[in-house]
Amino acid sequence: MKERPVVAESEMLRQREFMKLVEKMEDRPRSYHIVSMGCQMNERDSESIAGMLREMGMRPEPVRENADLILYNTCCVRENAENKALGNVIWLKELKKEKPDLMICVGGCMTQEKGMAAMMKARYPFIDLIYGTHNLYKLPEYVYRVLAEKRPVVEIMDIDGEVVEGMPEARRNRFNAFVNIMYGCDNFCTYCIVPYVRGRERSREPEAVIAECVRLQDEGAQEIMLLGQNVNSYRGGGAEFAELLYRIDRLGIPRIRFMTSHPKDLSDELIHAFAELRHLMPQLHLPVQSGSDEILRRMNRRYTRAHYLELVQKLRAACPDIGLTSDIIVGFPGETLEQFEETLSLVETVRFDAAYTFIYSPRKGTRAAEYPDETPYEVKSELIQRLIDLQQAISLEALKAQVGKRETVLVEAVSTRDSASVGGKTPRGMMVNFPGKPDLIGKMADVEITSAGRNTLRGRML
Ligand code: SAH
Ligand code: SF4
Ligand code: F3S
Repeated sequence: MKERPVVAESEMLRQREFMKLVEKMEDRPRSYHIVSMGCQMNERDSESIAGMLREMGMRPEPVRENADLILYNTCCVRENAENKALGNVIWLKELKKEKPDLMICVGGCMTQEKGMAAMMKARYPFIDLIYGTHNLYKLPEYVYRVLAEKRPVVEIMDIDGEVVEGMPEARRNRFNAFVNIMYGCDNFCTYCIVPYVRGRERSREPEAVIAECVRLQDEGAQEIMLLGQNVNSYRGGGAEFAELLYRIDRLGIPRIRFMTSHPKDLSDELIHAFAELRHLMPQLHLPVQSGSDEILRRMNRRYTRAHYLELVQKLRAACPDIGLTSDIIVGFPGETLEQFEETLSLVETVRFDAAYTFIYSPRKGTRAAEYPDETPYEVKSELIQRLIDLQQAISLEALKAQVGKRETVLVEAVSTRDSASVGGKTPRGMMVNFPGKPDLIGKMADVEITSAGRNTLRGRML
């Protein structure tokens, strides 16, 4: 991966000028509501967006309908993500009739798709601002233009080679923070649109990453999640990912996690880090996608089933308690029943703590979208159900195996089902709910696991 220039500091200073200009405008929106529709990187972008909007003098508004500015941070990884975004946009048309001053902004991966912004501009003229993934940092300038010119702004940039430092940010909370370490993806898995909308791989300088972690630590971070589409191919300032992890571990932040890892780039050094590093949590999300060599080859994943199984073995040798999770695609074009069953058998062999399963969704512009696909959707739905049933049984067993253990939980929130309980994750990444007060949020709690549910554990505080 080549190292790329950082967007010039002067450009961020310019954007800060626009933030000030907007703040002084009489008719600017006073409140904002952001809807994040994608992955963790999408959420991290929303934190930067929130930071910029706050600097423009807007406050967060939790109820969407009440906000003066609504921003959709879209995703397009599967068709349903896109349909959801477009469905929401149409709903906004009605809202705008009631609230003509409402400012509607749509950005993120979907708007960066080829031809999408032009289509949206033509079909949804009530959208005030459409921007993409590569020009997120120009949001202040665009908001200013919408207000000053009183007409829609549609700006998509194709330049994808930059790393932007120094954007304002408003984090979700103080105790568990996302830290981007790299952007984009060069892997071009044949089903995936991400490389087209997020651009080429580029890493942040290790010093910039470390400085951000130190700042977060000073602000009280208990856990950081390092983010990238493929963190294993991080290469910033000559440092590889494992080296970066060792440096971050020395800072002493209690918990470090990262995602996502690509099996083809998972190095022995990184596996070793799970045995050595004090603060690296025993959890790894390692998407396998398929258990069939032929399908893996046609997906352009560049590893085999045997290689994946070997990685699992090495990881468990280095860190016996490691919790592995995965992503799996069912119904890739041309996938036979036998090939699907190879995925089932891999799942049985590995025994993931959890797996996110998806029916293959053709994405325009990707190679696999051109492959013939004769399996009807109903058949794929039946197959994925077989996989889900199998994984649920395995997940339940993994959860049950925790009963009786004592674990330190970083409390994240009040439990959704029971307001007298709070919930958080064990080192292995499993969710535990236990009776407790909201003042525990953001703190570590020692908990004994008392029972296992379908997806979560229950416990009691020690
Ligand atoms: N960079 C990460 C994740 C990318 S998207 C990785 O490589 O693992 C998250 C998941 O969405 C992928 O792991 C894959 O399982 C799924 N996915 C991506 N494109 C898809 C498509 N066209 N149809 C169905 N699932 C898809
Ligand atoms: Fe998509 Fe593959 Fe890149 Fe992941 S590694 S983002 S699945 S192209
Ligand atoms: Fe979606 Fe973009 Fe993430 S397509 S999964 S929001 S990188």
